[in-house]
Amino acid sequence: MNNSMKAVQIHAFGDRSVLSLNDIAIPTPAENDVLIKVKAAAVNPVDWKIREGYLQSLLNHTLPLTLGWDVAGEIAAIGENVKHLKVGDAVYSRPDIAKNGSYAEYQVVDADEVALKPSSLSWQEAAGIPLAALTAWQSLYEFAKLEAGERVLIHAGSGAVGQFAIQLAKLRGAYVYTTTSSKNTELVLSLGADEAIDYHQEDFSTLNDIDVVFDTIGGETQANSWKTLKKGGRLVSIYENPDEATATEYGVSSSFCFVQPSREQLEKLAELADAGKLKVNIDSEFSLNQVAEAHERSESGHAQGKIIINVSA
Ligand SMILES: NC(=O)c1ccc[n+]([C@@H]2O[C@H](COP(=O)([O-])OP(=O)(O)OC[C@H]3O[C@@H](n4cnc5c(N)ncnc54)[C@H](OP(=O)(O)O)[C@@H]3O)[C@@H](O)[C@H]2O)c1
Repeated sequence: MNNSMKAVQIHAFGDRSVLSLNDIAIPTPAENDVLIKVKAAAVNPVDWKIREGYLQSLLNHTLPLTLGWDVAGEIAAIGENVKHLKVGDAVYSRPDIAKNGSYAEYQVVDADEVALKPSSLSWQEAAGIPLAALTAWQSLYEFAKLEAGERVLIHAGSGAVGQFAIQLAKLRGAYVYTTTSSKNTELVLSLGADEAIDYHQEDFSTLNDIDVVFDTIGGETQANSWKTLKKGGRLVSIYENPDEATATEYGVSSSFCFVQPSREQLEKLAELADAGKLKVNIDSEFSLNQVAEAHERSESGHAQGKIIINVSA
């Protein structure tokens, strides 16, 4: 193996012009890590939020930093304590966001954050699952404790997280309302949503007796969501911390979910994907030297699924 690799790094926080494709040393896995030869990575809004420096008070990254926290690839080397993976395994991961990311030819990841990739999916589809699907899983299943028969309102059903949220809510046996644009109605219904609400034309806040609101948008969308909930309902946001006083006023509970790595949940998601129960829609694909274009697409706020970076797939 050559000692150097290509990686898209930032040396300063800022707009897309701070992204640079560099030759850097291939990292060495520590005893509990694996070295992944990256086949495909995915872009998430958090990538450009970190690039801009918006999350620095929370994450305290040191620069230079390689961005990208969704990866699918092959194990190239393992640390001496790693037992459940071996060189050559096809894997996927949403690695620790505090460390260097996956817009690179190789990435070191804690083995506990790595699971075998769904074998029926392409590298690109597999890379599109971890961050967005774990977010939907943890928000709906762990924070909201969504149950069969409940009514859930999922905002932005056409977004990367929203698409997984619709599918996971249906798998749980919930009744799903989702906000979307009319251009995406067919898409969200095909993923299993029971009712699509065009957020440009219709007022979702006339819904009532909702058990769970999944807020992926924040701002006015969150503010207008409280009154849709029944007493004792739950609002989970992944965009901003909901106001506890407002939750109390409406007699509901609220929480903020910040997605965490989970090998166990990735294994369950892989099973679902291989059983044909979890679909991944790819919005667009870019190469490592087109990361700025990929960020531009994500920053538009109108992607219809995952934005993929092809590294060596
Ligand atoms: N806390 C966490 O751990 C966590 C994890 C993942 C994501 N997030 C955050 O969650 C948000 C969503 O992430 P994502 O990856 O799903 O984003 P995304 O894929 O970029 O979302 C884009 C989608 O949002 C839809 N949309 C935009 N405005 C809307 C509105 N007012 N109502 C309904 N739909 C709307 C767009 O549909 P149209 O084109 O039809 O407008 C588009 O399909 C981001 O802010 C991200 O940073 C947080």
